[in-house]
Amino acid sequence: MDDAAERIFAALRDVSQSGAPLYLQLKKNIEDAVRRGLIGPGDALPSERDIAAQADISRVTVRKAVQDLVKSGVLVQRHGSGTFVAPRMERVEQSLSRLTSFTEDMARRGMAARSQWLERGVYPPSPDEMMVLGLSASELVSRLSRLRIADETPLAIERAAISASVLPDPREVTSSLYMALGKTGHRPVRAVQRISAVNLGGAEAKLLVVPEGSACLQIERISYLASGKVIEFTKSIYRGDAYDFVAELRLPGPDGQEGDIA
Ligand code: GLP
Repeated sequence: MDDAAERIFAALRDVSQSGAPLYLQLKKNIEDAVRRGLIGPGDALPSERDIAAQADISRVTVRKAVQDLVKSGVLVQRHGSGTFVAPRMERVEQSLSRLTSFTEDMARRGMAARSQWLERGVYPPSPDEMMVLGLSASELVSRLSRLRIADETPLAIERAAISASVLPDPREVTSSLYMALGKTGHRPVRAVQRISAVNLGGAEAKLLVVPEGSACLQIERISYLASGKVIEFTKSIYRGDAYDFVAELRLPGPDGQEGDIA
């Protein structure tokens, strides 16, 4: 038996010790083994039959636990060769000082960006949208919600709101929002971002193919035109295991101004 299998079996010893359904206990034990690094990315999981025998549970129970872990992205199944711990995401390093779009960021890294549309339409604005975009209750807002995918890996969920007076038909945005805004002279030139930590709920975890409760970065971007008018209000959720945000810091100038946040 190889090392990974031995470590898995060591982690399975406790199955059926508590009152929780067996498949949930097995699932948690495998998740814990991955989180604690007992088994690492690319390690093969022992066969269903071996796990069932070792943990003294049925193969149906093993299959249910494994299938759940495949769905939540902890394990991957390769046809004909078995089940493995999912490869670790190659982290994307993202500068916090350049105002770039997702499509541009990915192109710079040689990755192919695409989006899955979650919502695209024109709506009455929410109180938040009215406040940030400076809209009255009688005006409309174009909303674009997308799952952002790079090289077939979902990286972020982005929900953008743009005044409908600037973007009357959100269907004009095909691949890049900034490209569409640029076409009408509305590409932002400055933005303020607020970043906070969140744990993912079930629906978003499913879209990003990570376990529910995973640590994520919630980013709110408010972007401005050169005139100072707010053009974009976007709330994004980025995978915590995929992104490093990097900021360059400088000493403040003698007037104390440099480095101040808007
Ligand atoms: C980034 C920002 C978003 C912005 C988007 C535009 O991901 N976080 O606020 O809306 O880029 O990207 P694209 O032009 O590829 O649609």
